[in-house]
Amino acid sequence: MKLLIKNGTIVNPKAGKSFVGSILVENGKITKIAKGDLTADGAETVNAAGMIVTPGLIDLHVHFRDPGFEEKEDILTGLEAAAAGGFTAVCTMPNTSPACDNIGTIEYQTKKAAKQGNGVRLYPIAAASKGLKGETMAPIGELKEGGAIAISDDGKPITDSSLLQRVMQYASSFGLMYVSHSEDTYLSKGGQMNESYFSTLYGMQGIPAVGEALSVARECLMAQYLGLPVHICHVSTKMSLDLIAYFKAQGVKVTAETAPHYLSLTDEAVGSYDTNTKVNPPLRSEEDRQALIAAVKSGLIDAIATDHAPHHERDKNVEFNTAPSGMVGLETAVPLVYKLVHDKQITIERFVELFTAGYGIFGLEGGVLTEGGRADITLIDPEYQWTIDKNMFRSKSRNTPFHGFHVKGAVFRTIAGGKTVFTRAY
Ligand code: DOR
Ligand code: ZN
Ligand code: ZN
Repeated sequence: MKLLIKNGTIVNPKAGKSFVGSILVENGKITKIAKGDLTADGAETVNAAGMIVTPGLIDLHVHFRDPGFEEKEDILTGLEAAAAGGFTAVCTMPNTSPACDNIGTIEYQTKKAAKQGNGVRLYPIAAASKGLKGETMAPIGELKEGGAIAISDDGKPITDSSLLQRVMQYASSFGLMYVSHSEDTYLSKGGQMNESYFSTLYGMQGIPAVGEALSVARECLMAQYLGLPVHICHVSTKMSLDLIAYFKAQGVKVTAETAPHYLSLTDEAVGSYDTNTKVNPPLRSEEDRQALIAAVKSGLIDAIATDHAPHHERDKNVEFNTAPSGMVGLETAVPLVYKLVHDKQITIERFVELFTAGYGIFGLEGGVLTEGGRADITLIDPEYQWTIDKNMFRSKSRNTPFHGFHVKGAVFRTIAGGKTVFTRAY
């Protein structure tokens, strides 16, 4: 099976400057990358004129609800949504039911993805504590054997600092990193949205930025004390960014992600009382949003992750304060963040770095197009204008606040292991 991608702008920042060229794919691998034209007998040809050709993107933070809540998302639909979003790899969080805190669950997930999936790679992030209860440590060694690529209790922080210390040490002895959902649950308890002028205006209990920052500071201090790396999930505030900048300058091995929604919306949007704007951490202030854009630009934020959190319409179609937090993100991430390229806030190379940094953070294969390497390739049409329509999602869930948004930039084709797993129907 041969595939020839021609005339596209190959944006492959790890390998050097971008150029217009061609890529030949044979039997799942990239066999040739060339400037200008290539020919190949019997190859399916894709004309990528005007398109950006990048290494397959990775989403380092998604929630597929399998096992346990398959009506929201299952592994197969999650992988389809990923493909439609331009992702050839995803890292799944462990808050399934049962939690991914045992070898059976992790093997179920990896086997289902490998046997029945579309070819998009699934990398499980396993639980730090049993049942995500924050009490006793999960069997981290076993989970690593089962295929865990990192350890996290995402959805919740580890409140007990002594457990955090042991988790970080134990995980590191298996070559795994602790991934932190940074939140002070004493401060966020009962909160519905960011604590601000708008929370007062809308009459909702606030979640203060300082709660996230307290937790970020603790994780970074612990990483510094132990000399171990830590990854901070979904950074949403300027205060957290200032702390991360401080600890990075101290040489602490801290990496950080933010999500497209924190770059696109603010707490003001919650005024619609649309429960699809409810997310944890919450949408923050315009000042926070601007600080995040600056951090994405400067490299202080290492990666974009969607925190794809599918919820059923039935669960979201309730009063704001009883609705679960989370929004789907896989199928809207590329156009939302591509806006920063159109607005000249970031370069297209930086865009690709942000969407491939997860490979480096977790030590996974990918993130660069190389001859002889796996053919994981994403084609993006930067100029295509369209309207986000939740009814077109591959995901089982439609909980997005971006329905009806006009965007510019679309995933045109996703190739995973040489196989086309998504093509956009214009
Ligand atoms: O909004 C969120 N949704 N934040 C989380 O931390 C968990 C996630 C979920 O699992 O729904
Ligand atoms: Zn989280
Ligand atoms: Zn999450």
